This record gives sequence, structure tokens and C-alpha cells, in this order.
Amino acid sequence: MATRTPLIAGNWKMYKTGPEAVQAAHALNALTAGVANVDIMIAPPFTALAAVSAALQGSPIAVGAQNLHWESEGAFTGEIAPGMLRAAGCRYVIIGHSERRQLFGETDQAVNRKVQAALAAGLIPVLCIGETEAEREAEQTFSVLDKQVRFGLENVSLQTLGDLVVAYEPVWAIGTGKTATREQAQEAHAFIRERLGKLYGEDMAEATGILYGGSVKPNNIAELIGMDDIDGALVGGASLEPETFARIIKLGD
Ligand code: PGA
Repeated sequence: MATRTPLIAGNWKMYKTGPEAVQAAHALNALTAGVANVDIMIAPPFTALAAVSAALQGSPIAVGAQNLHWESEGAFTGEIAPGMLRAAGCRYVIIGHSERRQLFGETDQAVNRKVQAALAAGLIPVLCIGETEAEREAEQTFSVLDKQVRFGLENVSLQTLGDLVVAYEPVWAIGTGKTATREQAQEAHAFIRERLGKLYGEDMAEATGILYGGSVKPNNIAELIGMDDIDGALVGGASLEPETFARIIKLGD
């Protein structure tokens, strides 16, 4: 098995003002000072990005955004361009989160444009994919994942693909307290890696981090991250409180 450094990422969604986010980032930085073998990322709301990046200068904690627009600038009221995220100190950007897909009508095509724009700007896309409960019950999990991987990465060549992170987040496990069993998650992750291998070859597939997301907590991180193809976690609710998030990070270390 390739050695992939685990990534534990916190998606703060629409929580925390700028000052609250800075305070939480400082606390998390102090609490995770001894962590050596896990990469850490936090994705605060847009309005907190620059201040959190400044607060984390010199810290190993990376900053990510939760969304972006695919154009580099223009008359797109309310949107944020990739270069703006870079200038605000972002290294990562979450793309295609199920809340964006479900609540804001984001299509695979939009997700694909965003992935391409992020890569072109030197941001690492965290491409989120996952099946709904109805799709799982209808035994469509793998066809949904296949489609989301293929469409999400359409026209992205191995040359343009720098670093990529994929997050497998079964929609039925997000914010519900239901987690996929580690076997269910491992099976999905192995499938995703196999699809990446088909598209980009074994080396890329083996090097790509695939995170699990959906009700990750201190009491389930260890068993998830212990699975061969689970390379970390995208954590929502349990990332908001620095002590809890730091516990998750340390359990993954
Ligand atoms: P959750 O959210 O950990 O609160 O389930 C995960 C996510 O939405 O990325």
C-alpha cells in the first residue's frame, strides 16, 4: 500500500464569524501542536478566510474554502473567484459538497468546471461525492459514485491534475449521526480508487487521498482511518469545537 499522509479536514459550513473562527483556529493550533503524521485543514466561511489564514501563519494547519466560482473574475454577483481564495490564503477548496448539490442545485457539470478552475489556480480540490439513502437502497451506490467521479473529473488530464483529494460522503450519513460501517466505507473507497486508476493509472490512484465524511466523531475515527483505503476524514459538526476536533485529529495521528 502506498504511504498516504492522512488528512483530517474540518468543514465549518455556515458557522462562526471572523473573530469566532480566528479564536477557534488559534485554539486548534495550540491543541494539535504535537501532531506529526496527519495533515490538517479547516474550511471556515468566506468572510473568515483571510483572518484565519493570517492567524495560522507558520502553522501546519492549512486553510480551505467551501466553494468557489469557475470564472476568474466578472459580473457574477455573490460569487468568489479561485484567485481570491488563493489571495486569502487558501490551499484547498471543497467542491460539490452534497449540501451544494442538494440545496443549491449544483450539477456534475458545475462541479467539473469548479474542479478545473481550482486546479488552474493552484488550489487542491476536495471533490465530494456520495450516494443518497434512496440510491443506496436501490443498489445504485457504485453507479452514482462512478458517475460523480467521471463527470467531476471530465476533461481533467493527468497533466493538469496536480494534487486531488476525494471525499466520500454518503449523503445519508451527513449530520444525521448515522455513519457508514467501516466495511461499507472501505468498499466505497476501494471502488473510488479503482475508478481513479482506470482514469489516471495506478500511481495516481495510489497517491490520491480519499477522505470519509459523514458523522465522523472521536468515537469512530480510529476504526474508519484504520481501513486500507480511508485516508482521513472530512468532519462537519464535530470540527466546530476545537477540543473535539483536536481529539479526532490526534486519534488519526
Ligand atoms: P458531519 O458533516 O460531520 O456533520 O456529518 C460532514 C460534512 O458535511 O462534510
